[in-house]
Amino acid sequence: MTQYITVTADDTIERDGAIKLYDAAAFEGMQAAGQLAATILDALVPHVVPGVTTEALDDIVRRMTIDAGAVPGTLGYRGYTKSCCTSINHVVCHGIPGEKTLKDGDIVNIDVTPVLGGWHGDTSRMFLVGDVAIKAKRLVDVTYECLMLGIEQAKPGNRLGDISHAIQVHAEKHRYGVVRDFCGHGVGRVFHDAPEVVHVGRPGTGLELKPGMIFTIEPMINIGRPDVKMLDDGWTAVTRDRSLSAQFEHSIGITETGCQIFTKSPTGLDHPPYA
Ligand code: MF3
Ligand code: CO
Ligand code: CO
Repeated sequence: MTQYITVTADDTIERDGAIKLYDAAAFEGMQAAGQLAATILDALVPHVVPGVTTEALDDIVRRMTIDAGAVPGTLGYRGYTKSCCTSINHVVCHGIPGEKTLKDGDIVNIDVTPVLGGWHGDTSRMFLVGDVAIKAKRLVDVTYECLMLGIEQAKPGNRLGDISHAIQVHAEKHRYGVVRDFCGHGVGRVFHDAPEVVHVGRPGTGLELKPGMIFTIEPMINIGRPDVKMLDDGWTAVTRDRSLSAQFEHSIGITETGCQIFTKSPTGLDHPPYA
């Protein structure tokens, strides 16, 4: 049996497997955190250029987060020591910022999660570095379409499988591989909460969506096979066949009629090209 808990903005919440149904004040908190997250990604646009280190981008994320009175959700999370994830080319997710510089032609996902007033605004976008090959650009475009097609299915009465299915069908129509090893998640007071939001599935299956649910959708799509491999740093996931991988992520809340996207860009920079 699925356990539901009704949550008001100031409740203390645990990662206990229960599905939380958040109230209007909670949605306001998530909207504020989500907009901070989106504003940080917006601000990175002019900095994501050939020659910049991913560490320099992490510094901007940390500074903007702290200046806004928030804390980076990833900082100190299970031993992670950075304020964002930077996943370049064949890196699927959780790339660690460092001395590595971005090169002309790279594609990179930057994933931020400022925690503002206790609310986690979790979002990521792809960035194109300099001149990017058409094959890579197409992967990025289709991955964004996958996210938005999934979000279209996020409404009361639908089930998680409707979201998963919409994403899988679109990716596989382009002969891309949908990553199975990582998924979206409940979010809110807790960074990674129930439910798991997988990106492949069958329509009409899984948890029924109800107003008040808050979760992420964050498909990782590979040009090649879905399989991933973990690097020795314990965080970085790469495609096993070294094919390019892309990802976009939004945090959303189910409303009476559909959903609210907390992490939409306030300046329309939701996907490239950003120029
Ligand atoms: N932001 C990632 C997500 O979408 C989680 C990153 S956890 C980290 O769920 F520790 F790797 F940063
Ligand atoms: Co997430
Ligand atoms: Co994220």
